[in-house]
Amino acid sequence: MATRHHNRVDLPIWSPKEGAPVWERATGEFVHATDGRDYIDLSMGWGACLWGHGLVAERIFEHYTPAELAQGVGSTQTTAIRERAEQALVEWVGARWPGSPDLRVGILHTGAEAVEAALKTALAATGRTEIVAFEGAYHGSFGSAVAASDTPDARRAFAPTFSFDDVRHVPFGEVPELSERTACVIVEPVQGSAGVVIPPDGFLVGLRAACDRVGALLILDDVLAGCGRTGVRMEGIECRPDVLTLAKALCSGMMGSAVVMTSDVADAAWGSDDAPRLSSTYYGHPFTCAAILEVLALHSQYDLASLCRHFEGALRRVEDATSFTLRGKGAFWALAGAKDQASQVSTELLERGVIADAAGSDGDVLSLKPSVLMRDESLERVVSAIISCPSAS
Ligand SMILES: Cc1ncc(COP(=O)(O)O)c(C=O)c1O
Repeated sequence: MATRHHNRVDLPIWSPKEGAPVWERATGEFVHATDGRDYIDLSMGWGACLWGHGLVAERIFEHYTPAELAQGVGSTQTTAIRERAEQALVEWVGARWPGSPDLRVGILHTGAEAVEAALKTALAATGRTEIVAFEGAYHGSFGSAVAASDTPDARRAFAPTFSFDDVRHVPFGEVPELSERTACVIVEPVQGSAGVVIPPDGFLVGLRAACDRVGALLILDDVLAGCGRTGVRMEGIECRPDVLTLAKALCSGMMGSAVVMTSDVADAAWGSDDAPRLSSTYYGHPFTCAAILEVLALHSQYDLASLCRHFEGALRRVEDATSFTLRGKGAFWALAGAKDQASQVSTELLERGVIADAAGSDGDVLSLKPSVLMRDESLERVVSAIISCPSAS
């Protein structure tokens, strides 16, 4: 008879870390766990909750009625709130997009979904197959659902997305050789999962020029770095991308993402009558739209740069007192150390009531993605906690 090993109910791939707190509620930078302990969170849902836990949800419940939020109209009809969010987002993004092109937007759910839509757009717009990406890149874990679906048109149109042979990874920070086969280059303006890696000056603009030379599209993946995480609205937007992906801080803890593209690219990809459609039951969901509108309102209420000002000074003191090296900007920081050092510090921090993840391929980088509304007292507690970790010295 088969033995029942344990009573866990989740799938192993989504299991929490052994000993990790079970959250009961979270507000601002604080997490209250079911064991009665309170934690200061520097992970913020893999960087999503730029404005702290709970704030965007609180504002949504204050400003919208259930009747405005509880709709699922699919993609063949629309809602007033979706029209408002689309317009507001295009204006907000467009105000910083070099050349002020005419823009189109799609409001989706996860970062991976926005990336998927961006890649499909590039393949459809160029009719080419090669995707150039960078070593160390992270763009999401999903994207082969269509390969498993019995939808011949979509499979024919999108098959190259799932042919990993057609994705070429090149060193981050160097402008690669492209060819007439290249459909697009996809780049994070700051590599997040690789450990907050900032590319050399001129890299992104160099990519733009390389794409222009062969008629390839440039996709800027601002899922993690964008919408304020680095202290500016869209990190890297000066490279004048063809397609931009946003998620995480776009809705700050509520689920939502967006793909924004120039209307030239949108028309080339999706303009003809026989173009395959990208559809989704909850496309442009009112909850997501309300979250976007509330986040944009927070951006007009606060000055991001001043909110981020206290992080660097405090973290430099950590750098001085430990063997870590600090890098980053805005509210997107990393303490880089030796192999496994950050993983050990992450465990020691949990015992001290601080949540921070290790990033990088070797457990060598402690990733710090605080809420921009984090109080000074909390930041001081974090500084003392890191310095007191035995593995930090
Ligand atoms: C740069 C980047 N792109 C895409 C994704 C995927 O986002 P999601 O986890 O919402 O699918 C992530 C997630 O961390 C990311 O950092």
